[in-house]
Amino acid sequence: MCGIVGYIGNRDAKEIILDSLQRLEYRGYDSAGIAMIDEKNAMIVRKEVGRIDNLRNEVFKYHRDVNSKLAIGHTRWATHGKVTAPNAHPHCDSRKRFAVVHNGIIENYQVLRKILIDKGHTFSSETDSEVLVHLIEEFYKEEERNLQSAVVEALKLVEGTYGIAVICVEEPYKIVGARNGSPLVLGIGENEMFIASDVNAIMPYTKNVVYLEDKEVVVIKSEQFKTYTLDYQRIEKEVTVVDWDVAAISKGDFETFMLKEIFEQPEALGNALRGRVQPRDGVVKFGGLTMTPEHARSIDKIIITACGTSWHASLVGKYLIERFAEIPVEVDYASEFRYRNPILNDRNMVVVISQSGETADTLEALREAKRKGAKVIGITNVIGSTIAKESDGGIYLHAGPEIGVASTKAFSNQLMTLAMLAIYIGRLKNLPLYEGERLLDELMTIPYKIQQVLNQAETIQKIALKYVKNKNFLYLGRGFNFPIALEGALKLKEISYIHAEGYPAAEMKHGPIALIDENMPVVFIAPKDSLYEKIMSNIEEVKARSGRVIVVTDNHDSVMESKADDLIFVPGTIEEFSPMINIIPLQLIAYYIAYEKGLDVDKPRNLAKSVTVE
Ligand code: AGP
Repeated sequence: MCGIVGYIGNRDAKEIILDSLQRLEYRGYDSAGIAMIDEKNAMIVRKEVGRIDNLRNEVFKYHRDVNSKLAIGHTRWATHGKVTAPNAHPHCDSRKRFAVVHNGIIENYQVLRKILIDKGHTFSSETDSEVLVHLIEEFYKEEERNLQSAVVEALKLVEGTYGIAVICVEEPYKIVGARNGSPLVLGIGENEMFIASDVNAIMPYTKNVVYLEDKEVVVIKSEQFKTYTLDYQRIEKEVTVVDWDVAAISKGDFETFMLKEIFEQPEALGNALRGRVQPRDGVVKFGGLTMTPEHARSIDKIIITACGTSWHASLVGKYLIERFAEIPVEVDYASEFRYRNPILNDRNMVVVISQSGETADTLEALREAKRKGAKVIGITNVIGSTIAKESDGGIYLHAGPEIGVASTKAFSNQLMTLAMLAIYIGRLKNLPLYEGERLLDELMTIPYKIQQVLNQAETIQKIALKYVKNKNFLYLGRGFNFPIALEGALKLKEISYIHAEGYPAAEMKHGPIALIDENMPVVFIAPKDSLYEKIMSNIEEVKARSGRVIVVTDNHDSVMESKADDLIFVPGTIEEFSPMINIIPLQLIAYYIAYEKGLDVDKPRNLAKSVTVE
């Protein structure tokens, strides 16, 4: 959570920081701040509660004329301390010689804070982060003027996670950055440099980036950078050229990122498939994963672990892998996995799934699995993310940047990737050629079928708007579509703040049925699959109790039509791939309800895109 950015060069640093923060806002958006060093070497700091626009207005109201070539900025998702201007970053020492922006959590901050207060430091916030700037002040030696060494000595006392950028009025020609557990990337321009929590922030300025690793420190000047270990050893870093298109991080003709990303799904899925499926041989190829038939046959259990939407995709993955690869699969919340005693052996394979590749719980689950000797496959969207780097083998989602906090296209690409993975392993085992061919032929039709659902957006919008005033929703599905009920409910909760629950349809009668009356809309995901007749009975049960029934189906059936209050028809596919199609109307329903309520769908309250705290 939280986004940090720094700039040094010849341009107006405040403009660049404010612009970059706007693209980082999805990481946290309760408050924001900027620190810049002006031409008289004074530190100018502005911090505001609310969105970046608010900060921008205040910066231009009070500091329009500041001519600064060096600045750092921060957008916050509160962990320690309320949402107030003093708690926003950057944090400064009392003489305003140093300014620090921090993403992460300093776990031993209370001990450090006490020591620093005893030494005479005065704190002006309730945050864990503020200890960093006081420690740096403590270690800074006037005679040496070595900001790097003050930062490193401070970090040696710190327990926890950090991605930081630090500036100092005594050395107004450098930024010192460091990371441990929170992402940090360096952007290299012409006589200018950037540092940021992720590449989105700086993409309009440069595509040449260097990803920092844990326990690395960087000293940035406008024309050069040098990277070190925490023991001051120089390290050479590779420059990566990012191939994401800048247009991918703008809204284009759409009003919101979320709607754009929903509509991008056919293209995103095409990108996930491209170069990987070979229908004539019935096989899938992944660049970052090579498995022999012997290895595939030796796997006796797969454990998939993830959080939130990625966890829902994992559940679909379980159904797919068990069906096509015939290997038992367990799905675990990443936050639970590492705190129980997962029994792993060298015949197990662990798959971690994360759009951002930075989710703290998922990353720690990956590390726990590796500690126990398991081989880990990481499925991530963000290239160069920590999970991608720490996995033994990896598959990228190729969904492109996902900016809307509520995940949509990354989820669809997770489902597509898991379908391909299941077929990949299946074909190394018992899945026959003709089955591989049939499945891949069908898989390749999915983007077109999703386009057909998107073409009905107006109809779906009309249906959604009937339910804007409802306070509760139930989502029910069976088999492959049970996780889609969970995901549909999560989408609605996240962006419309309406209470919604997802259940396996048959579980309704074991409790949730007590909730059903005329005020309870129930969304059924009811494709014509092996469980269609059973879900019809569940629909009858809801109707018998005056519930409002919205059905997503691929089956034109007069009985269903007479029962449903609202019907959304989607193109048919095989039941294994139907989740990819059925999620689309549910994303749209959530979107249109939230939009109608006037809510900020891209940045729902209390949420952040990358949850980098446990
Ligand atoms: C998605 O809509 C959510 N905002 C959230 O549940 C998310 O899926 C979860 O935090 C996991 O994120 P990750 O995929 O980046 O690890």
